[in-house]
Amino acid sequence: MGKDTITLTDNRTGKQYEVPVKDGTINAMDLRQIKADPDDFGLMTYDPAFMNTANCRSAITFIDGDKGILRYRGYPIEELAEEKTFLEIAWLLLKGELPSREEYGAWKTDVTHHTMVRENIKRLIDGFQYDAHPMGIFVSTVGALSTFYPEAKHVDDPANRKLQILRLIAKVPTIAAYSYRHRMGLPYVMPDNDLYYTGNFLNMLFKMAELKYAVNPTIERALDILFILHADHEQNCSTTAMRGIGSSRADPYSALAGAAAALYGPLHGGANEAVLHMLKEIGSVSAIPPFVEKVKKGEGRLMGFGHRIYKSYDPRARILKEMAHKVFAITGRNRLLDVALELERIALSDEYFVKRKLYPNVDFYSGLIYQSLKFPVEMFPVLFAIPRTVGWLAQWEEMLVDPDQKIARPRQIYTGYDVRHLPEFEKQETARA
Ligand code: ACO
Repeated sequence: MGKDTITLTDNRTGKQYEVPVKDGTINAMDLRQIKADPDDFGLMTYDPAFMNTANCRSAITFIDGDKGILRYRGYPIEELAEEKTFLEIAWLLLKGELPSREEYGAWKTDVTHHTMVRENIKRLIDGFQYDAHPMGIFVSTVGALSTFYPEAKHVDDPANRKLQILRLIAKVPTIAAYSYRHRMGLPYVMPDNDLYYTGNFLNMLFKMAELKYAVNPTIERALDILFILHADHEQNCSTTAMRGIGSSRADPYSALAGAAAALYGPLHGGANEAVLHMLKEIGSVSAIPPFVEKVKKGEGRLMGFGHRIYKSYDPRARILKEMAHKVFAITGRNRLLDVALELERIALSDEYFVKRKLYPNVDFYSGLIYQSLKFPVEMFPVLFAIPRTVGWLAQWEEMLVDPDQKIARPRQIYTGYDVRHLPEFEKQETARA
């Protein structure tokens, strides 16, 4: 075994540099010493979209994209989805260990007792246009929470952070449900403290005139598993936004609103909405081959396919594909499932997709399940944002206590003009020269 270093030769100067290799990376700052001449700024790396740059050290989530492995704090996602509840996973992601029975009991009680929002939050939501997209309401309302809890800005105080984390996890289902009720023109439903997290969310969404909302346990469990699968996914676009905003020491509500805004994009959390539109547009199994041909010609993408990290089957998609059948046994078969299954079959045997390692991702089946649970497509990214709140907060906390971290501030390669002058200053500059 050789040394854990790499030797770089600068062919501009003939100089050699020995740079340490740690955890399969070199420290980008070690390149700064490499200069063509003494006035040179020093070598940088150019990595738009962070294709090959580790931005942090993290002990929360592990992904092996080639093997299709996803683990939270070391536990395989398949085991967690089978055995645990979303609130246990929330604790696991935040604290690093699964809760003891006592810890879990206290955590559930704490979360339950922070689910209510102030009355003026409801009035804030009322102010939105009747057809406002619920994700727009969600992003704005989460951001507005920072004005209700101004002490949240003391992000260096661990006890304060703990309280805001609890508030956010408890209140995001309420805000999400109210964004839905507003759009449907329905009155807001109070949280029901007798119910578990996802059961209460269903209650706040769907309760009508009945005294007590009857939660269907299979639906509640299906939603809980969906939440488990979406809880964290290491350094994705929205988590990077959360860390980036949080790095300026913004309060967690403002940072989380930014993360949720990043999630809203169709290439990220908006993809399951896009999948449904795509499946509807295809409409029938017979229309799949011409659609696939269009995609191969570069006219659009197969939504719900492909992933920056997974170059094999997304393990979350595998769990959801199975779960879809269980949910449809209760809700009735979603006719778009046939289109989805056939589309997957055709794509996975087509050279174009095989060569590019494009497999179904988590969004491919989640949209179908959400639709069968009677969620309008506009709610899909909101349903993603609720569980991902846990991941964003775990990553935010980890970032704040990491001594390596500072305010995020990438470099650029400047490609604009060298100096030029306004006509009014031209003469003076010429005279000075
Ligand atoms: N359909 C058709 N072709 C695709 C797709 C797709 N869904 N995804 C990638 N490709 C092709 C690209 O055209 C490119 O082909 P080329 O090499 O001939 O130019 C090649 O595969 C590589 O694509 P990139 O865009 O470089 O891959 P990248 O890692 O940047 O993108 C992304 C990943 C954004 C997820 C992409 O696969 C995509 O747009 N998928 C559809 C949207 C989607 O499902 N997003 C959800 C992601 S999961 C999540 O956020 C929860």
